Amino acid sequence: MSQSTQYSTLNTQYSILIMSDIFDKIKELTEEIENSLVQSVEEIEQFRIKYLGTKNIIKPLFGEIRNVANERKKEFGQAVNALKQKAEAKFDGFKEELEANASDEEAKSIDLTAPGIAEQLGSRHPVSIVMNRMVEIFSRIGFNVAQDREIEDDWHNFTALNTPEDHPARDMQDTYYLLNDPERLLRTHTSSVQVRVMDYQKPPIRVICPGRVYRNETISARAHCQFHQVEGLYIAEKVSFADLKQTIEYFAKEMFGHQTKIRVRPSFFPFTEPSVEVDVSCFICGGDGCNVCKYTSWVEIGGCGMVDPKVLENCGIDSDKYTGFAFGMGVERIAMLKYQINDIRLLFENDVRFLQQFEAGL
Ligand code: DAH
Repeated sequence: MSQSTQYSTLNTQYSILIMSDIFDKIKELTEEIENSLVQSVEEIEQFRIKYLGTKNIIKPLFGEIRNVANERKKEFGQAVNALKQKAEAKFDGFKEELEANASDEEAKSIDLTAPGIAEQLGSRHPVSIVMNRMVEIFSRIGFNVAQDREIEDDWHNFTALNTPEDHPARDMQDTYYLLNDPERLLRTHTSSVQVRVMDYQKPPIRVICPGRVYRNETISARAHCQFHQVEGLYIAEKVSFADLKQTIEYFAKEMFGHQTKIRVRPSFFPFTEPSVEVDVSCFICGGDGCNVCKYTSWVEIGGCGMVDPKVLENCGIDSDKYTGFAFGMGVERIAMLKYQINDIRLLFENDVRFLQQFEAGL
């Protein structure tokens, strides 16, 4: 190859270089890349544009190969490739450094003394809080929890409980019947679960039946068409009314405080004889009179009595051998008394502003 052909014919910045100069140029660029220092994102970008961008200064060197003597073409190609790789490696190094520094900076910018952002915790519904508490109190004295269906038949909700079809006591509980099956209904109380337990369990029986019940009531501040009950049943030999009173008194003291007193008033339920209604001394005013107890010092919490022998016989239990007591309480009523909620509808509306007030639990 003549000397003249060592000049590039390409119109590039290297076109005037002779071959030895081209090798020198590669060396020079290699050193330049090696010694490059950057301080900022902008400088990294300038580096990229200069050595790796679309119009970078390495690219024209590849074109020079046609002007290189054959015996040195290989050497030249390798040198230019190495130069390009060097630029790429350097650039990757800069980027890594930049990212490491950025996360350092980020860590430094976190103010460890700043107050945290509190997690939003959910809260239990007041009805659940009260129901769980009732279950827990009765569990401690040996009551097991029994649960069963909400769609019941007439027998378990009424007839077995000594309330045959034409019995006036049926009017006490307005009932929702299923449209396509008038034999079936939405249970009006969880006493139906007591009947179911007596169907499959022999005495002694000691259960509580928490659950949802339905009645065809006009919805108002004091009444709803759905609510919850906790009913209890204890059947064994020689169970007496004194046992019932002791059990209710224990519950009242655990639920409302140890200074709480109870009183019972004669009442009527078809499934118990005698039947009573239970009042507790007002735990808001302690007996001085307030608008929760309507200035009577007492608030009603439920009904109870000795299980009518007829009910035991209906369920295949020998009423000569066994006696029992039963009680029933409305969960919403107790929750409303306890938290002084004056409208039962609040318990079914799921308004978070209302529910958030129960975050602390009982
Ligand atoms: N089942 C009654 C009601 O829903 C409450 C009740 C009263 C249940 C007396 C009982 C009981 O077990 O003995 O109004």
